[in-house]
Amino acid sequence: MAVSSYWYAQGKEKSADKQAGFLFGEAYTSEELLNLIDKDCICVASDGSAILGYFLFDNYTSNATTKFYKQVLKGLVSNKKITPNRVCVRAQVAVHPDHQNRGLSKRLTKFLSQQHKEKYDTIFSVVDRQNPKMQVHISNNWKIVEQDELYNYVLLEL
Ligand SMILES: CC(C)(COP(=O)(O)OP(=O)(O)OC[C@H]1O[C@@H](n2cnc3c(N)ncnc32)[C@H](O)[C@@H]1OP(=O)(O)O)[C@@H](O)C(=O)NCCC(=O)NCCS
Repeated sequence: MAVSSYWYAQGKEKSADKQAGFLFGEAYTSEELLNLIDKDCICVASDGSAILGYFLFDNYTSNATTKFYKQVLKGLVSNKKITPNRVCVRAQVAVHPDHQNRGLSKRLTKFLSQQHKEKYDTIFSVVDRQNPKMQVHISNNWKIVEQDELYNYVLLEL
């Protein structure tokens, strides 16, 4: 929760230095996160009791941001930019600001993707075009399937 809140705050704060990235939209509530944990849809990197980062898949919540992802995904499927087979509608990755550039997001992405190979073919996500960490996603095997002025629409094949 602390890692997530930090990056949502960076996204909202106009004067924040966005070089390390940020999260946009409606923050996950602790109830939603607990539900995703129950469904084995989150993996975390930890050091003792400290959470250093997490990666999550979300095919369950229905907050405003997830609804936005679903709507965009529907459009991309009907425009044949994405094949509709077993697509998970949303993902999110965040690493504690003091533990970046150590390969954590890459390891988290690989780990959770392997766990869900039987369940999904692809994972969809949306990255703000002002987020300079898009290159990290590309290095983690995400592919841009569409862009507009505001967002990169990306897909990860499992
Ligand atoms: C984006 C974020 C998750 C990256 O986490 P990280 O643990 O620092 O990333 P990693 O160290 O695993 O880097 C992954 C890959 O990207 C590469 N990379 C890192 N920074 C890069 C940059 N500025 N340009 C190009 N490649 C970069 C790394 O070299 C690594 O690739 P490699 O293993 O092939 O060398 C982290 O910066 C973060 O939490 N930002 C705030 C939240 C956010 O923006 N989330 C994404 C929005 S959904």
